[in-house]
Amino acid sequence: MKFFIDTADVAEIREASAMGLVDGVTTNPSLVAKTGRKFRDLLEEICDVVRGPVSAEAVSLDYEGMMKEARDLSRLKSNIVVKLPLTTEGLKSVKTCKSEGIPTNVTLCFSANQALLAAKAGATYISPFVGRLDDISENGMDLIADVLQIYRNYRLDTQVLVASVRHPVHVLQAAKMGADVATCPFSVLKQLAAHPLTEIGIQRFLKDWEKVPR
Ligand code: E4P
Repeated sequence: MKFFIDTADVAEIREASAMGLVDGVTTNPSLVAKTGRKFRDLLEEICDVVRGPVSAEAVSLDYEGMMKEARDLSRLKSNIVVKLPLTTEGLKSVKTCKSEGIPTNVTLCFSANQALLAAKAGATYISPFVGRLDDISENGMDLIADVLQIYRNYRLDTQVLVASVRHPVHVLQAAKMGADVATCPFSVLKQLAAHPLTEIGIQRFLKDWEKVPR
């Protein structure tokens, strides 16, 4: 399974990359707003740090606007993936992007039928938001299982990118199900590495090491 980092914070991206944990990056308008930086400058810097796919979201709601943004963004750097919303205008744009060789990440997916449509339109990635479904008392990971089953049934090659990941159990379940990618906040990536017994083990070894004659 590939790990993407779900942030627009370049310091976090650099640190996670140094740990070998970044196959790609996903950003969204809220994450970009948090940085206080200009979108294009920020994207260029992220794309210079990470060679893998970097998702950048179009904010237009209509097909013409989305296509203009998609073309502009894809010209900026070769590893940009254009993020488009799961709406009818978004699907039309995905189809055109596919025909123009622009990779897409279809975002804000909350149902398996939506994911099926995105794949039929030619999306490179589909992003079901598991955490936001959990927030409204649904089971986000059930959606991932459904999407994977449907894509396997019809040999659809859209990659399942588990998004809105909130904790390590989401990642574990995604990996067991065989999802293609999980995009995680930096805090979750660090949680994946942490285990209390690892920390206790280190402290014990260090304590015993003090008794070793030097
Ligand atoms: C995915 O691409 C989105 O940026 C992200 O995972 C949204 O997560 P949130 O629901 O925690 O905002």
